[in-house]
Amino acid sequence: MPGRERIAVIGLGYVGLPLALALARQFETIGLDIDSGRVRELRGGHDRTGEIEDAKLSASTLTLTDRPEDCAGYDVYIVTVPTPVDSANQPDLRPVESATRTVAGLIDPALRPTIVYESTVYPGVTEEVCAALLEEAGLVRGRDFRLGYSPERINPGDKVHTVDKIVKVIAGEDDEVCAQLERIYGAVTEAGTFRAASIRAAEGAKVIENAQRDINVAFMNEVARIMADAGVSAWDVLDAARTKWNFLPFEPGLVGGHCIGVDPFYLAHLAEKLGHQPQVILAGRDTNDTMGAWIIDRLHARRGGKAGRALVLGLTFKENVPDLRNSRSADLVERLEYLGYDVAIADPVADADEVRQTYGRAPVELPAEGFDLVIGAVRHAPYQAMGAHELAAMVAPGGTIADIKAMWRDQRGEIGRDYWSF
Ligand SMILES: NC(=O)c1ccc[n+]([C@@H]2O[C@H](COP(=O)([O-])OP(=O)(O)OC[C@H]3O[C@@H](n4cnc5c(N)ncnc54)[C@H](O)[C@@H]3O)[C@@H](O)[C@H]2O)c1
Repeated sequence: MPGRERIAVIGLGYVGLPLALALARQFETIGLDIDSGRVRELRGGHDRTGEIEDAKLSASTLTLTDRPEDCAGYDVYIVTVPTPVDSANQPDLRPVESATRTVAGLIDPALRPTIVYESTVYPGVTEEVCAALLEEAGLVRGRDFRLGYSPERINPGDKVHTVDKIVKVIAGEDDEVCAQLERIYGAVTEAGTFRAASIRAAEGAKVIENAQRDINVAFMNEVARIMADAGVSAWDVLDAARTKWNFLPFEPGLVGGHCIGVDPFYLAHLAEKLGHQPQVILAGRDTNDTMGAWIIDRLHARRGGKAGRALVLGLTFKENVPDLRNSRSADLVERLEYLGYDVAIADPVADADEVRQTYGRAPVELPAEGFDLVIGAVRHAPYQAMGAHELAAMVAPGGTIADIKAMWRDQRGEIGRDYWSF
């Protein structure tokens, strides 16, 4: 039974599309994206992010548009646009600002719509930056529109923690907005809602969730470096440490993507604005961002400083996700080339044309052979499934196989080639 509100979701990416589809089951919902190509593809029944199955997309009553005017006069606007950083790692709020200006032009003050932000920001962005832009357009907060915030918890590639199964944190500028958001989000998640104490608290919750993960992985990466120098496998150390009841099971590795590797900079920016030095947060970022170069230098030294033909397996920021943005595999390629390697790349999930555009070369198709150095960088399912025989075939005699994600650790004795991992 459709609810009363008509809802517009602004930005149809990893976060916006699953949310809009879930809402469309209960409410009259429209999804807006400025990328006409994205809208065309979705209308054609395909989601290239792989989050939504084609059949589910085609069966939905969600209206899709790239024309803002189609979203005029809605009761609720939910903003799910990207929040990247600029080249100096400072928050780039331009997509949020631009989406807010768009929404300002669509509001019917008689409806007093609620504008909810889901994009990851730092405390204050919704009520200072966004509210100011809406008021600049001649609208008065509380009278013509009201604000809310509900941090997204989408985990790309994760088919278990989907939007309908996660606790949805909600916050509103007053009790009425909170109750409205509890009702709307409550209708689309079976896990229930949590009313945060304030919009700022909800903004803070989201940004620290990701910063916490980044810092924990950074600690693992630091452990991996220390253990490597001590001649001990970090995985062996972790296998043993994990037996303790309160040990947190994080792993070393590359931290890419547009959330975990980016959001801590939002928190750091807020800290610096307030005169606080975010030492832990930034140390974690630095450790994680330099991991790719550290791995390659380590492997190069292992090979006696001799360059050769290298193959990097896995180019996306995460396993089983096609997104190449902010992937740290690029660091591996860059460092290898700096050291004089001839570098081939492969990825079974990423779009080959996008790979070509991003890396300036075509991905190789497996099986491939004769590489001096083969680096397993991303735990994509087809890589995880490779057997010792297949792995050995890729590596030239005297070559090395590097297993950053410990995908082939159980087979390391059978590969018959020099094997390296943390
Ligand atoms: N993907 C995640 O894992 C994840 C998890 C939690 C939170 N977040 C946060 O959610 C937000 C969105 O992330 P995402 O992964 O969905 O991004 P995304 O890049 O996948 O999608 C964003 C979409 O918004 C569109 N867009 C940009 N500006 C627009 C505008 N002004 N009007 C309309 N559409 C516009 C883009 O074309 C794109 O399709 C970010 O703040 C991100 O940090 C993401």
